[in-house]
Amino acid sequence: MEQATKGRPIVASEAATGLKRRDAFATGLGVLAATLGSAVGLGNIWKFPAMTGQNGGAAFIIIYLLSTILVGLPVMISEHMIGRYARKDAINSLRVVAPKGQPWWLIGAAGGVAAFLIMAFYSEVVGWVFAYIAKSVSGSILSTDPATNGAVFTDLVSSPTQSLLWQWLALVWVGAILIMGVAKGIERATKRLLPLLFVLLIIVAVRSLTLDGAGDGVSFLLKPDFSKVTGAVVLAAMGLAFFKLSVGMGTMITYGSYFREDQDIPMTATRVMLADLTVSLLAGLAIFPAVFAFGFDVQSGPSLLFITIPAVFASMPGGEIFVVIFFVLTAVAATGAMISIVEVPVAFLSEQFRMPRKYALALTLVLLALAGAPAALSQGELADVKIAGKTFFDLYDYASSNILLPVGGMFMCIFVGWVWGFERTKRALTNNGTLNNSAAVNLFFIICKYVTPLLVLVVLLDGLNII
Ligand code: TRP
Repeated sequence: MEQATKGRPIVASEAATGLKRRDAFATGLGVLAATLGSAVGLGNIWKFPAMTGQNGGAAFIIIYLLSTILVGLPVMISEHMIGRYARKDAINSLRVVAPKGQPWWLIGAAGGVAAFLIMAFYSEVVGWVFAYIAKSVSGSILSTDPATNGAVFTDLVSSPTQSLLWQWLALVWVGAILIMGVAKGIERATKRLLPLLFVLLIIVAVRSLTLDGAGDGVSFLLKPDFSKVTGAVVLAAMGLAFFKLSVGMGTMITYGSYFREDQDIPMTATRVMLADLTVSLLAGLAIFPAVFAFGFDVQSGPSLLFITIPAVFASMPGGEIFVVIFFVLTAVAATGAMISIVEVPVAFLSEQFRMPRKYALALTLVLLALAGAPAALSQGELADVKIAGKTFFDLYDYASSNILLPVGGMFMCIFVGWVWGFERTKRALTNNGTLNNSAAVNLFFIICKYVTPLLVLVVLLDGLNII
């Protein structure tokens, strides 16, 4: 055992932080499920396929894989460690761990902005998923014809009232769940339903892979063509890695603050990463073979999920029931993710200003409805309003995934590697020497200190055309 009594304990005491006892995840499985619940969401089922389709398939996936391992994972471990040590919301956790006078809390503040931008478009896509639940119940979307499926989607997203109402429903929904409290609300829903989504994705993938003409989709996923990979594509893949693992904005600091002291952080984070990757790849296998088999446009981006999945179900027995279950489970996965995004500003407002959680939540949701409206309208009324060539929807997405999350994650790793230091990292990640994982911790530290910051910096500068 290292000296736990000398120096700082691995968890700042309640007396030192002046906080009441925090709601904590009751079980190790709860921690894994909740973290996974944050990571798995529309990023896997909607964004990953959309971006893979737009950026050329296999080559994009390979860069994404590397980013996840070398960038996403180290940032996740860092965030969990800092959150568990400080036991506060993201901003105040960084205040607790930073040396006096150094503004590392700015990472958390940038994360707060990122949380808003992400929710502003994410809630809209969740709204689409809700709309598709309704449509699939009424049986109106089961077609294998690209034109028909495309028209259903376009009707939905170009209608201002529908777009706004579905988005508001998504916001009210996440608000209702959050009011039930951290441990209960998040743990329960996720633990039970994520495995079902996994099984359903396997079923869809099997159907998709056995369609006539599925082979082109498989080669799209497996045969890399690096000729189309530009700096912007690499940045997009790395941004997706941040977005996917919910890192770079303090979500995982907030979650880490609910971890138990005997939780094995490196192991938990690695498992979450692997499970999350599996879900994304399965979603790819469910979607791309069908895209090619039915002649959909592989570049169709945000609409890809919504036009392809109904087609796969239209071509299988019991499809009218499966399609309802599919969109319901997608909504469940998205809910776990939304909760974790909204939790960042709510935890901050309630702890910083000692605001009752209910008010903090209400305030957050109202602000989100305001910020989200331009995103909701950006495929209809506001389609022609562009900033830097992007609609509000795309701008929120780009600014968060491709700028704020990478910058936040880079500074997170710089903080851990260069300020927090090896001794404290080792004590925290080995749980004061009780875990037998020194080799992994050493490897993590080297990557976190040198590799991750440098990679992110180069990819950012190149992807944003600065160098
Ligand atoms: N990872 C989630 C998804 O892929 C989205 C998400 C949840 C997120 N919390 C986040 C993204 C925090 C960035 C930061 O659907």
